Amino acid sequence: PKLTLYQKALPIPPQAQVKYKITNPVTGKEIWYYELEIKPFTQQIYPNLKAARLVGYNGTSPGPTIIVPKGQESVVRFINNGDRESSVHLHGSPSRAPFDGWAEDEMFPGQYKDYYYPNYQSGRMLWYHDHALGITAENAHFGQAGAYVVADAAEDALGLPTGYGKYDIPLVLTSKYYNSDGTLRSSKGEDQSLWGDVIHVNGQPWPFFNVEPRKYRFRILDASLSRNFDLFFVRSSATSTRLPFQVIASDAGLLERPVQVTDLKNAVAERYEIVFDFSKFAGQSIELRNDHDLDIMTDDDYDNTDKVMKFVVSGTAVTDTSKVPAALRTVPYPPPSTGVDHQFRFHRSNGEWQINGVGFEDVANRVLAKVPRGKVEIWELENSSGGWTHPIHVHLVDFKVIERNGRGVEPYESIGLKDVVWLGKNEVVKVEAHYGPWNGLYMFHCHNLIHEDHDMMAAFNVTQLTT
Ligand code: C2O
Ligand code: CU
Repeated sequence: PKLTLYQKALPIPPQAQVKYKITNPVTGKEIWYYELEIKPFTQQIYPNLKAARLVGYNGTSPGPTIIVPKGQESVVRFINNGDRESSVHLHGSPSRAPFDGWAEDEMFPGQYKDYYYPNYQSGRMLWYHDHALGITAENAHFGQAGAYVVADAAEDALGLPTGYGKYDIPLVLTSKYYNSDGTLRSSKGEDQSLWGDVIHVNGQPWPFFNVEPRKYRFRILDASLSRNFDLFFVRSSATSTRLPFQVIASDAGLLERPVQVTDLKNAVAERYEIVFDFSKFAGQSIELRNDHDLDIMTDDDYDNTDKVMKFVVSGTAVTDTSKVPAALRTVPYPPPSTGVDHQFRFHRSNGEWQINGVGFEDVANRVLAKVPRGKVEIWELENSSGGWTHPIHVHLVDFKVIERNGRGVEPYESIGLKDVVWLGKNEVVKVEAHYGPWNGLYMFHCHNLIHEDHDMMAAFNVTQLTT
């Protein structure tokens, strides 16, 4: 069956409510406590077919958006009333290792776990998602992902468009296949990729969104299993002309300054924040589209995977006092280091995805790096799997993308900090990070979740610096 495009409104994930404010008995600081329940719900995707059965957080997918001010510690109790094991990772948070969603640290159905998050980092959009051993893809695909925002007073002072769900809008992209009866097709049989032929934004296939003729901030997250995006805007009435917009932030928050572009590459798990100004388009409609850059992308295309969503701009003029300042912040780059400390090759061998010949199930060999705490290191990431793309994520740290051979680093990748980097076909990328602030064993992996589960994931151990 086929879905008609732009028929349903963009859903905005509800904001999670603080359940209790508790006091940390050790530090005396207040902690915000939340509860999110992993449980099944149904969603009618195809009008005359069966509803799809999903397993999300509190009955929605994406789950509720958690918004905490910078410096406000939080505890989230994840209660697993789903069908399978779960482990929750807050992607983008320097969580202590026991709260980082280690793949084998699983909650079985009927169990819960309290995760503690420090939230001391600069303002940014993080996301929480499942990370359970070997079933991360299936759990994320069926709904276990949600947005998490650290709000920052320094950022609020800039005058950017603001108001969650009003002028500050999360756009969580996913791409899936459905069965002919309307239910969601499982990802279990896949060991290479699941591209998906239905593009969703905030859980809704190809939605529309009514906007005022003014500036909006969009926080874009690619939460697909495998599909990467090259996003651009056009007018519905003139689809060959790409419209300019400003990129203001990436994974780890604001860039130094806005970067004006006409397209934005957003790989799996990357976040980019943009400001689009609809003021010149009163009474018109604007579409968000997806290009396929053959130089770096290997995604399979289908009839409508070049389309994402539509914005219907009201004809009534409004006053817009928001702005995009020419300088956004001083980015806390790691102090410069020299030389490459570790080299990691991402490749396919013996029917498995591996890093330096190791998969995560190779328990004896999977700790590929020991990093003294406090050290700045350069890691060289090499794609030696020919025609594939791998979005590489390193837990715990924010890194600077310092070099990409074959193609220049995109300006919006280089003037901010990130935790995922797009490793395109035959590319070698260098990233630099300050390893800390805690000791602990952390994962790094390809964020194509099919690759991650089959078994392109390894670990690094941050250890106390001995003098
Ligand atoms: Cu977004 Cu290791 O995960
Ligand atoms: Cu990969």
